[in-house]
Amino acid sequence: MDVTIFGSGYVGLVTGACLAEVGNNVLCIDIDPKKIDLLNSGGVPIHEPGLEELIKNNRDAGRMHFSTDAEAGVKHGLFQFIAVGTPPDEDGSADLQYVLSVARAIGQHMGTYRILVDKSTVPVGTADKVAAAVREVQAARGVSVEFDVVSNPEFLKEGAAIEDFMRPDRIIVGTDNPRTAELLRALYAPFNRNHDRLMTMDIRSAEFTKYAANAMLATKISFMNELSNIAEAVGADIEKVRTGIGSDPRIGYQFIYPGCGYGGSCFPKDVRALEQTARGLGYDPQLLHAVEAVNFRQKELLFKKISDYFGGDLKGRSIALWGLAFKPNTDDMREASSRVLMESLWAAGGRAQAFDPVAMEETRRLYGERADLLLAPDAVSALDGADALAIVTEWSQFRSPDFALIKDRLKSPAIFDGRNILDGRLATAAGLTYVSIGRTPLV
Ligand code: UGA
Repeated sequence: MDVTIFGSGYVGLVTGACLAEVGNNVLCIDIDPKKIDLLNSGGVPIHEPGLEELIKNNRDAGRMHFSTDAEAGVKHGLFQFIAVGTPPDEDGSADLQYVLSVARAIGQHMGTYRILVDKSTVPVGTADKVAAAVREVQAARGVSVEFDVVSNPEFLKEGAAIEDFMRPDRIIVGTDNPRTAELLRALYAPFNRNHDRLMTMDIRSAEFTKYAANAMLATKISFMNELSNIAEAVGADIEKVRTGIGSDPRIGYQFIYPGCGYGGSCFPKDVRALEQTARGLGYDPQLLHAVEAVNFRQKELLFKKISDYFGGDLKGRSIALWGLAFKPNTDDMREASSRVLMESLWAAGGRAQAFDPVAMEETRRLYGERADLLLAPDAVSALDGADALAIVTEWSQFRSPDFALIKDRLKSPAIFDGRNILDGRLATAAGLTYVSIGRTPLV
């Protein structure tokens, strides 16, 4: 089938590559010529395990093309995926200008039936706005070409995006047209083999499902973080509590890991956007507000613990950071906890010396040549001259470090484990002070 994807970012490229992989002819469109040049010359603008190879194979096989030509995109695909960004407005609500400009381009150039598929995370009611934008442009052109708008939100996780797309937990198709639902069912058939994971529903419920899922997941994390702070205060160990409650299948073990807060491009943005939607409709979403507030406080926790340890004076102190990305297996640093820690250290007159397996370039892009940020070539070098170590991202390679070596390198040997990934007893046995989240300090 012929598929056009507007937006060659995270969701667009993964969707395009996976649809091409199963035999479709995919044309990816982006307004950024630099991105398209890079893709045409064999590069990939984002870091995602397996994506570069998948794109290369499909480009070489002639099933994946890249262009800035929106008109060519509209002519190409029966399916017109909209996978452009929906950045937050000043008040946190989703900015739809890119989505609607794609809708207008489709309205401008379409000569025959098209299915517009909203893949970006968009507020409830966006499909109506997309349809209105297409109709408006068609009216100005004096034409009336048939089209449908479908809500088909994406649920992939960064770092596991290909696997998530290839073997989805669910495929949500929101449409009011049964014929369109069947066309989408055919497109997704290769990803829907073992048992039927495709759910059709009305458009608004599909749009809302995406926000509901992210809000629920973010709530689990903030709730655990809240419990972890209480556990610390009452002298309980949140890691024991976590396994104790996770064993109840109604609670489950997944997504209840306490830490130094959630980041990324989705949870913070989507929780805020849903809050704004509710407020705009006159509903006060108290729980959503608290989820975000707890996360904000949690991101400041590592700094607070470090500052307390050094008696509130971090002037001239240097802290080694292991991990900069908002989570492992990505170079994405949007809303990453590491940024809150580094920026707080700088504001307090301290320094940060950091290592991340893949996000170093992204850090340089974000902070430039900031003199007070030292990027080390590896985890061990990041310790040289540092007072203490903070673990901010739970990369596997940080999970079993040489504690004796860490003790030797640090000036005031303490580890602040923001993800509870280390064995505190081993750290303490090596003579380190071990501070983690939600556990009374080990002595
Ligand atoms: C999230 C959702 O998990 C996806 O289902 C969704 O499709 C995606 O947003 C999206 O809206 O596009 P992602 O942002 O890639 O995916 O990251 P997650 O793996 O969900 O992690 C989010 C953050 O939560 C990370 O900072 C992670 O460290 C933190 N986290 C996760 C915890 O602190 N504790 C946990 O138990 C789990």
